[in-house]
Amino acid sequence: MKYNFENKVAMITGAGSGIGQAASLLLASYGCNLCLVDLNEENLSQTKARIKQDVEILIKVGDVTDTVFLKQCVDVIDDKFKRLDFAFNNAGMASAALSIADLEIEMWNKQINVNLNSIFYCMHYQIPLMLKTGGGAIVNTSSILGTVAARNRSAYIAAKHGVTGLSKAAALDYADQNIRVNSIHPGYIETPLIAHFDTAEIERKHPMQRLGKASEIAELVSFLLSGDASFVTGANYAIDGGYVTQ
Ligand SMILES: NC(=O)c1ccc[n+]([C@@H]2O[C@H](COP(=O)([O-])OP(=O)(O)OC[C@H]3O[C@@H](n4cnc5c(N)ncnc54)[C@H](O)[C@@H]3O)[C@@H](O)[C@H]2O)c1
Repeated sequence: MKYNFENKVAMITGAGSGIGQAASLLLASYGCNLCLVDLNEENLSQTKARIKQDVEILIKVGDVTDTVFLKQCVDVIDDKFKRLDFAFNNAGMASAALSIADLEIEMWNKQINVNLNSIFYCMHYQIPLMLKTGGGAIVNTSSILGTVAARNRSAYIAAKHGVTGLSKAAALDYADQNIRVNSIHPGYIETPLIAHFDTAEIERKHPMQRLGKASEIAELVSFLLSGDASFVTGANYAIDGGYVTQ
């Protein structure tokens, strides 16, 4: 086993699909107990069914923009485990391709709520529980579009740049209290989120000429959560086949 996460507890959002599901399976393989959060109950059940290890799994169905729901998730983790070691704040949504004048204000607000505000809400409730047992590690999912821009994706880009800055800010707030916070910046990854994209076109945008796999992102997440990354905080990790290096 690469890492021993036995007796550790992780909260993972967006755990029903794609990157969140891959991270859930990998952390479980290291013996980590899990609280899996997603809007989609059926997908969460599938994630749970795919975990064969003997770990404790809490399933929480709800919306990461709902602060009452998130507080309840953390309260349930506290009741059951009395600790929270890791958080992977990853739930997010893609945006329609629209210029700023054409993007409805309502859709702007939704993007900012789901892709940025939820990350603050999650950390706001997670951090006090982490501090109770002496610290923890948090990974927030940003994007290549949290580092560079692309046309007609203003809300997603603003939200993901916000996640980049928020993760740095959180890292500094808690650097001397043993909570590490890092963000990850995937290129285009083969998940349902990009199912409607033209695969050949987006493959060409990556110097490695391919899309990433959710399992590759999960490997980075587990490293950043692990003790092997004990001096890594406030970092914004590109994992994109060279996309932002161009
Ligand atoms: N796939 C990519 O190319 C790519 C690239 C860069 C960043 N990302 C980011 O990675 C993260 C995971 O995306 P993915 O590719 O695995 O997508 P996905 O669609 O496969 O999974 C996202 C999951 O988040 C859940 N979710 C969405 N909104 C939610 C909400 N309000 N409350 C609770 N759960 C919610 C969905 O139900 C889904 O299960 C997202 O933040 C996304 O922006 C993805």
